[in-house]
Amino acid sequence: MTLRIARDVLLLVAKRPSRLVKWRLQTNLFRGRAPMSDRIESHLKEDRRFPPSSEFSAHARIRSHAEYTSRHAASLEDPATFWREETQDLVFREPWKTFSEWELPHAKFFVGAKLNVSESCLDRHLATSARNRAAIVFEGEPGDTRTLTYFELHREVVRFSAALLDLGVLPGDRVAIYMGMIPEAAIAMLACARIGATHSVVFGGFSADALRDRINDLGATVLVTQDGAWRRGNVVPLKQMADKALLETPTIRHVVVYERIGTKLAPFSLKEGRDHQWDMLLARTPSAESLAKAKGPEAFDSEHPLFVLYTSGSTGKPKGVLHTSAGYLVSAHVTSKYVFDLKDSDLYWCTADVGWVTGHSYIVYGPLSNGASCLMYEGAPNFPDAGRFWNIIEKHGVTILYTAPTAIRAFIRWGDEWPEKHDLSSLRLLGSVGEPINPEAWTWYHRVVGKGKCPIVDTWWQTETGSIMLTTLPGACFSKPGSTGLPMFGVDIEVVKDRGEACAPNEGGKLVIKRPWPSMARTLYGDDARFKESYWSQMPGVYFTGDGARRDEDGYFWVTGRIDDVLNVAGHRIGTAEIESALVSHPSVAEAAAVGRPDDLKGQALVVFVTLKTGQPADKAMKAKLAEHIDREIGKFARPDEVRFADALPKTRSGKIMRRLLKEIASGSLETKGDTSTLEDLSVLAKLRANDDEA
Ligand code: PRX
Repeated sequence: MTLRIARDVLLLVAKRPSRLVKWRLQTNLFRGRAPMSDRIESHLKEDRRFPPSSEFSAHARIRSHAEYTSRHAASLEDPATFWREETQDLVFREPWKTFSEWELPHAKFFVGAKLNVSESCLDRHLATSARNRAAIVFEGEPGDTRTLTYFELHREVVRFSAALLDLGVLPGDRVAIYMGMIPEAAIAMLACARIGATHSVVFGGFSADALRDRINDLGATVLVTQDGAWRRGNVVPLKQMADKALLETPTIRHVVVYERIGTKLAPFSLKEGRDHQWDMLLARTPSAESLAKAKGPEAFDSEHPLFVLYTSGSTGKPKGVLHTSAGYLVSAHVTSKYVFDLKDSDLYWCTADVGWVTGHSYIVYGPLSNGASCLMYEGAPNFPDAGRFWNIIEKHGVTILYTAPTAIRAFIRWGDEWPEKHDLSSLRLLGSVGEPINPEAWTWYHRVVGKGKCPIVDTWWQTETGSIMLTTLPGACFSKPGSTGLPMFGVDIEVVKDRGEACAPNEGGKLVIKRPWPSMARTLYGDDARFKESYWSQMPGVYFTGDGARRDEDGYFWVTGRIDDVLNVAGHRIGTAEIESALVSHPSVAEAAAVGRPDDLKGQALVVFVTLKTGQPADKAMKAKLAEHIDREIGKFARPDEVRFADALPKTRSGKIMRRLLKEIASGSLETKGDTSTLEDLSVLAKLRANDDEA
């Protein structure tokens, strides 16, 4: 016993958690049983207020807290009038008859309206001063740049729409897009929207197997891809990876390949009759019928499917989140306008990838429907050096930067000298998304990047919500580092206890949305039962976000993170079940459990506990094999940070793996908190801890 205590003390000293890890433990412990008072105390220390400067407010779209409050109240009390006013500048070919109709879990918005989403993003700007304004300012990783004005973007989208029509794509057909961050990705998305095809962008970091599964789940008929994408000076051979997927995707009839890199560095082959080079396809004169349809596109019902985006849930199979047309567009439009306070003079940069929902809503549909000029960067933040982001901001005069806490933490690690080397004075507003931002990162972002003058909007939302749900409007409300702020217009959101009663101020609970909102996911593609079960079955009549939160006495929300089996690793949403099912598909693995542990850089790191089949060597080579297996099954971004072998996993008597205990072990916690009475074999824990010491 004495020995054990001495060892524990030594370990504690050796593993003394950093401030960030402490903050993480405090917020994550919410999922377990940490006394709420401890957590609140830690948060209250950070409860500083950062109001916008009077100069910022004077020119903002919403200028005071009172204005925000009255607009928010109006959006809930008389939504039809509120949204009628807010959608004046969008193009509806036929107005809606009813604002919304719902029979939970299903909802419709702008019922009866007809529109073509791409007209609001493109055509409407052609008759205004936006016509010759930059829509997309592209910076390639090697440093090449290209600007597409709204006129040019419209022209390219029309041409690609005509090409897709000539390939026989019909409204409702699914088109998979497997591309990097190049303007053609946005062109392909908008062209799908224009002809009523449902796009599904598959993040370029996903493996061939993941691409194949998504294509097959959708029954996609067309795949749009590129030869390769630049990433940290290397070429990611997207077409070659797509070719692997295409061996097992019977529904694909056509593949369009954009040549970004060139055959010398990214050689690829074209399958006769199926594959088409983007440029050659567009060089062909489209049929008169297709051209006419592309130029004067059809209007679709407000609930016509716009896109499906796969995201992780708590089972092994990713969820195909389906968004429809009018509600999604309206919310992306209105949130972009107010949260980023967009002005004609802005150059707005969202650093997300188009393969995630942030790229959909805040690179493509939201900003473009506002006529904003958007910067799009192809590559890594540290290529050729750690100053690349700051170099881009200086070079192009970026005014609004929207990025993720994981990136901010990496910048902190790389050192202040990188941002300090560059002139960042063009910046006027900063944004954060994807995971809770720890107060240290917030303050650094504010001080070093924003020079103390730029408001920070911390935006909470999800693939399923389609648009920002919680934030502080930058000219109207003060921010608090670590808090994601107040509800956006039309958002009726609360923190509740298990049975649905509202929590008292500062009491932790589950974050739920109490009534449908326009950009709400309509279903999960091909699995409506799962839609109901995942989001609408926890508590009657409300949407369960899967997140834990508290709301303070000012009404500000503090999101503490997922309370389901979903991890947020470096801003990427990863389902533990997805990782586990990938691992057990490896012939050497008997059983696996994936958990998160706090990580200074990534927010959460992925730790997997693996029980091998008898006779399999538990060695370094096996760890590498398993990591490679995850690369293949899902993608490199889901590679575990740590693989730990275990003779057995802690289980309840009914055979359920007790992930809570594994999480504690993975976090380096030296004692077991909470109830272990249901644990079948207590000695399993001691063995796992002993393995930790060896690791
Ligand atoms: O846990 C929340 C976290 O990210 C989850 C949604 O992930 P995804 O659908 O991939 O969308 C990410 C981009 C919108 C949420 O359930 N999350 C997102 N933004 C924040 C956040 N957690 C805390 N603060 C945020 N600002």
